[in-house]
Amino acid sequence: MSLPDALVDALASARHVLALTGSGASAESGVPTFREAQTGLWSQYEPTQLATPEAFAQDPALIWRWYRWRRELVQAAEPNPGHVALARLHSLVDTMTLVTQNVDGLHQRAGSPDVVEYHGNLFANRCHEGSCDTNGADLEAEVPACPQCGGRLRPGVVWFGEAIPDGARERADAAAADCDVFLSIGTSSLVWPAAGLADIASTHGAVVVEINPDATPQTSRSHYSLRARAGELLPELVDSLARRKRSDT
Ligand code: APR
Repeated sequence: MSLPDALVDALASARHVLALTGSGASAESGVPTFREAQTGLWSQYEPTQLATPEAFAQDPALIWRWYRWRRELVQAAEPNPGHVALARLHSLVDTMTLVTQNVDGLHQRAGSPDVVEYHGNLFANRCHEGSCDTNGADLEAEVPACPQCGGRLRPGVVWFGEAIPDGARERADAAAADCDVFLSIGTSSLVWPAAGLADIASTHGAVVVEINPDATPQTSRSHYSLRARAGELLPELVDSLARRKRSDT
């Protein structure tokens, strides 16, 4: 896909770029999008029935089995060229903030520093009762117990109906208000408050770019909507920027 020159210009002159990713950014790594994941035994469940505090309270062992299965899926995956391109982008712009709705840790494995994990991380564990120190927990137990308070451990992800972690929410909002270019990558832009970040950026004068093979509610509000897969488009975008930076020097 040939990229509009004006888009490369905007990136080349950007002081601050914010990239927001959703599960589509990991699709080419073989990690099914959140809604595609339910196969085999899990096909009888909707993710929205499992990723909730109520489901955990009702059957913590079932929820731990599901997360252990999802951890195995993700551990078998590798970062794709889209993740690698975003990691490279950090070195091409003055300030880059990467906010992900994904919990798979693939941005970090691709080399992106300081990722804002808006929905937590699949491989983190935390105490369901509070902010205990969970070091030393027996993670082999069917439902691991908190070594500090004896309560239940849970995966360190944000469940439906739960608040976005404070630090992540503030960092993402501040970056959206400050950035010059906002890249919305592989997200259906249906889940709030993440879906509102592009509006914050646009209101503050940023150029908003959507990268998604399909249209979303964000499409009509974006300055550029590139119908493409992240793993194909992002390397091209970053290569174009690198070439421009070299020719500008
Ligand atoms: N490249 C770019 N986008 C892609 C690709 C790809 N290769 N493959 C699929 N997509 C797009 C789809 O068209 C869709 O718009 O990625 C989007 C994935 O949408 P969702 O599955 O809804 O994932 P996401 O937007 O991340 O969901 C947000 O909601 O499900 C909860 O907590 C969960 O973090 C998730 C949040």
